[in-house]
Amino acid sequence: MQIEIEAQPFSSISSDAIVTYVFGDRVSGNNEARIESVLAELDRATEGKIKPLADSGELTGKFLEMTLLHYPQGLAAKKLLVIGAGKPEKFSHAELRKIAGAALRYLRARGAKSFAFLARENEQTPAAAQAMAEGLLHAEYDSDKYQTEKKPAKVMERVSLAGFPANSRAEIEAAIARAKIIGEAEIWARDMINEPSNRLTPRMLAERAEAMAREAGLEIDVLDEKRIAELKMGALLGVAQGSAEPPRVIVVRYRPAQKKPNSPVLAFVGKAVTFDTGGISIKPANNMEEMKTDMSGGATMLAVIRALARLKPPIEVMAVVPATENMPGGRAQKPGDVQIAMSGKSIEVINTDAEGRLILADAICYAKKLGATHLIDAATLTGAIITALANVHVGAFGTPREFLDRVLDSARAAGEKMWPMPIDDEYQEMIKSKIADIRNTGSGKGGGSITAAWFLKEFAEDTPWVHLDIAGTAWRDDAKPWSASGPTGIAIRTLIDFAMRM
Ligand code: BES
Ligand code: MN
Ligand code: ZN
Repeated sequence: MQIEIEAQPFSSISSDAIVTYVFGDRVSGNNEARIESVLAELDRATEGKIKPLADSGELTGKFLEMTLLHYPQGLAAKKLLVIGAGKPEKFSHAELRKIAGAALRYLRARGAKSFAFLARENEQTPAAAQAMAEGLLHAEYDSDKYQTEKKPAKVMERVSLAGFPANSRAEIEAAIARAKIIGEAEIWARDMINEPSNRLTPRMLAERAEAMAREAGLEIDVLDEKRIAELKMGALLGVAQGSAEPPRVIVVRYRPAQKKPNSPVLAFVGKAVTFDTGGISIKPANNMEEMKTDMSGGATMLAVIRALARLKPPIEVMAVVPATENMPGGRAQKPGDVQIAMSGKSIEVINTDAEGRLILADAICYAKKLGATHLIDAATLTGAIITALANVHVGAFGTPREFLDRVLDSARAAGEKMWPMPIDDEYQEMIKSKIADIRNTGSGKGGGSITAAWFLKEFAEDTPWVHLDIAGTAWRDDAKPWSASGPTGIAIRTLIDFAMRM
């Protein structure tokens, strides 16, 4: 799909469709003056085809309401699509992304190959153009790789962004280029998350990372099981020992051409369990196939550094991705086993299904050894985060609070919902063990996501750290108007934004 800037006035745009959006509380009523200016202009251009729809109550501006006109009089385009934008006070770039994406999926399903998206008066900025392009690229994706009996493919070939002032062309083009880098990173991760575990083992994930690093000009080091053992990553090895597939630790590094002395080194640590059966504490069969997505955090972090290689922030960044299967093989670790993590801490493994925190413990420790001054991890870590926040928000933990708040600021800018979770000392008590230094599940009832976060903090220690529990948000069972079902690519946009601001 090509995304370009449209210079034509909208009445002469000869796309398959023209799309614009309209706010909820301003279209209704008979008062001509209350029709917004873009809409009023369209109403004039179409010789009064819009206003009657508003007057009759068909066009209300409710969020994502679709009003489609065919062969609109007065316009060169074949269709005119007016999308509801909801209440103006609730409108932000997050809604703009969804509207642009919903337009693409709606028109593509109806055979359109191109459309022009008309930016409104307040949204003619580079940041808005970037949001629109991000929304388009996100929406374009579908998880149909293994469907051999696909219907004739419907492809959106070209989308143009219209309504931007001519003198900001260069900035708008740069914004679109940034969106493309981000959108491609999302697609790269979403493709990997979609792969079933027989087609994406830890070794295959490492190969994909190697190919990516080569192409992007990034340094890469893949630790095999021998080096993992030499480094005494006992927590990761404990998980991996139940599988015939050997583990890997993937380390990708980005170093800026110029960096100031004492500038931060940001480490992105991502959980990559290519399949989580639960191990000996085995999961029920129902929906277990979803556990092929348990490497989402790892894919996210590799995608983020892939994008940063092209966006070139002035700080050093690394991605550290521990990759393994969690299997109940004959050599598998068993409940009650004690493992010694790379940091030297001893861990009583109460439940082998709490494996994510084990592999992250050693990855966090290794990232610090490589010089990380700031840590951010992403992991499909707990079912408990789904209980707490459903499939809506990412659970965001971290210390110090200011560091977490900066990540939350980026989430808002990126239009990704994240919610701060508590990490008070009371929860630390719940992972004390009678046998070892700590245990891998909380004692007592409740707070499962928080005790999991506390477990990670035991390894992050005093290094500024943020943990994103994406178990509820990495995968979508049902499509949204702006996004396919399947992997969402959650947190990629946020973390790219964060690294660029840092
Ligand atoms: N990978 C799962 C968490 C998960 C659950 C991800 C649902 C996506 C959807 C994780 O390894 C896990 O099994 N967590 C356990 C921890 C428990 C044993 C303390 C859980 O949440 O049940
Ligand atoms: Mn598990
Ligand atoms: Zn898991």
